[in-house]
Amino acid sequence: SLQIAKNILLEAANGHYAVGAFNVYNLEGISSVISAAKDEGSPAILQIHPTALRHGKGALVAACISAAKTANVPIAVHLDHGTDEQEILDAIDMGFDSIMIDCSHLPFKENLERTKRITIAAHSRNVFVEAELGRLSGTEDGLTVEEYEEKLTDPIQADEFLRETKVDALAVCIGNVHGIYPKDGPKLKFDLLQECIKHGVRKFNVNTEVRSAYVTTLREPKKDLLDIMSCAQDAMKTVIAEKLKVFGSSGKF
Ligand code: G3H
Ligand code: ZN
Repeated sequence: SLQIAKNILLEAANGHYAVGAFNVYNLEGISSVISAAKDEGSPAILQIHPTALRHGKGALVAACISAAKTANVPIAVHLDHGTDEQEILDAIDMGFDSIMIDCSHLPFKENLERTKRITIAAHSRNVFVEAELGRLSGTEDGLTVEEYEEKLTDPIQADEFLRETKVDALAVCIGNVHGIYPKDGPKLKFDLLQECIKHGVRKFNVNTEVRSAYVTTLREPKKDLLDIMSCAQDAMKTVIAEKLKVFGSSGKF
């Protein structure tokens, strides 16, 4: 519910740390997040991207919800980058604690109006809402300075957006990008990450690194399916545990 997600992020604000939101695709992914969070004594967010949801459907969501319920650390279940209104409403029906309304591809006013409308629906169902302002792209490769600047979140707009939409959390772009980082950038180093946490960033999404850890294990020779599954799980868990330490959420529960 709204309260689970809210509590996780409020506790993080009070404790001056951040929470990791990890994209999951299957049972191994879910287990790796839960067991890393348990071992680290840390809260975590299980998040499902719409493409993963279309693949795993209700069974994937049910597995997340059940794992979250039985974990002895706080876990929220979140829809990542919801762009389709019906898909977001369906996710609310499926029992997600929290949803992201990503209308960041739209002009500011349209992003605001659409986010506002869906937020009312989500809040009436007791679901936490994250929105996005500014545009998190694939990589900043090949962008002109103007194109790059345009993707950044405008703090003045952010203020209006938050007041008008009443969303609970906002994804911002300060030069962060999705996917595998090119060798020469973006210049987001771990000391900068600590800076972000100091300045109030409370949710960090991790997708690519956990996926690559999984896929890398598939390239190694393995005995059998269970061997593949447990190696993949261990590899993901290692990455996740490391992130929980960097975010400062380890040992909080
Ligand atoms: O929504 C997902 C994320 O923002 C994480 O993606 O691991 O490619 O940065 P990434
Ligand atoms: Zn994202």
